[in-house]
Amino acid sequence: MVSYEQIFEKNREWVAEMTARDSEFFEKLARDQTPDYLYIGCSDSRVPANEIMGLEPGEVFVHRNVANLVNNTDLNVLSVINFAVKHLSVKHIIVCGHYNCGGVKAAMQPKDMGILNPWLRNIRDVYRLHADELHSITDEHERYNRLVELNVREQATNVIKTAGVQKSFRKKGYPVVHGWVFDLHTGILKDLNINFEAILKDIQSIYDLTGIASEINEDFDN
Ligand code: CO
Repeated sequence: MVSYEQIFEKNREWVAEMTARDSEFFEKLARDQTPDYLYIGCSDSRVPANEIMGLEPGEVFVHRNVANLVNNTDLNVLSVINFAVKHLSVKHIIVCGHYNCGGVKAAMQPKDMGILNPWLRNIRDVYRLHADELHSITDEHERYNRLVELNVREQATNVIKTAGVQKSFRKKGYPVVHGWVFDLHTGILKDLNINFEAILKDIQSIYDLTGIASEINEDFDN
C-alpha cells in the first residue's frame, strides 16, 4: 500500500517524468482542455479511465459513479454530459462498465441495501427490461456478466435520450455514443458495438427532443 506521505513523493516523481518528456507539458496543460472523449465509467478503483484508454491528461473528460449509471434525475451526470457536448464539443461519449462490478452484483441480490436502494433500482430496472433473456441464462456468473453488458447498453441509451446529444448530433454529426466493457482478468476493453444511429432512431419515436419547442429552452437541454 502507498502511504499518505508517499503520494506527494510520487506526485513529484510524476511531475519530473512528465517535464523530462516535454518541458512545456504543464504550461500546455494549463492553457485549455480540448478532449475528444467523454468517458462515463464505474468508480471502481481497478478501472481508471486514462490508463485503460492509454490517454494523457487533457485527452478525456471523465465522470464516474457506482456501476456507471446515467440517471435522468442525476444533475451530476447530466451536467457533465451537457458541458462535454455543448462546451467541449466531444466527438465520442463512452459508457464503460466492467465485469465483476460490485454495484451490478449488489443489484442482483434480492435484499434491502438501505441507502443504496434507489441507486441500485436503476440496475434492477435494467434487469426487468431484459428479464426474459437473463432468466434464460442458467449459469449465475454468465448471467451477471450479461447484466453488466445490458446495463452498459441501457445507460448508453440514456445518454442518447438527452436533448443535448440529440441536437448536437443532428446539427454537427457528433457525438457518437459507445458502450464498452472492461475485463479485469485480461485488461482488455471490449466494444459492445452498439448501433448508435439505430438506437437514436428507435428511441426518437418516444424521446425525440430535437423539435422546435424544445429549442426555445436551448440552455436547459437535458
Ligand atoms: Co463497478
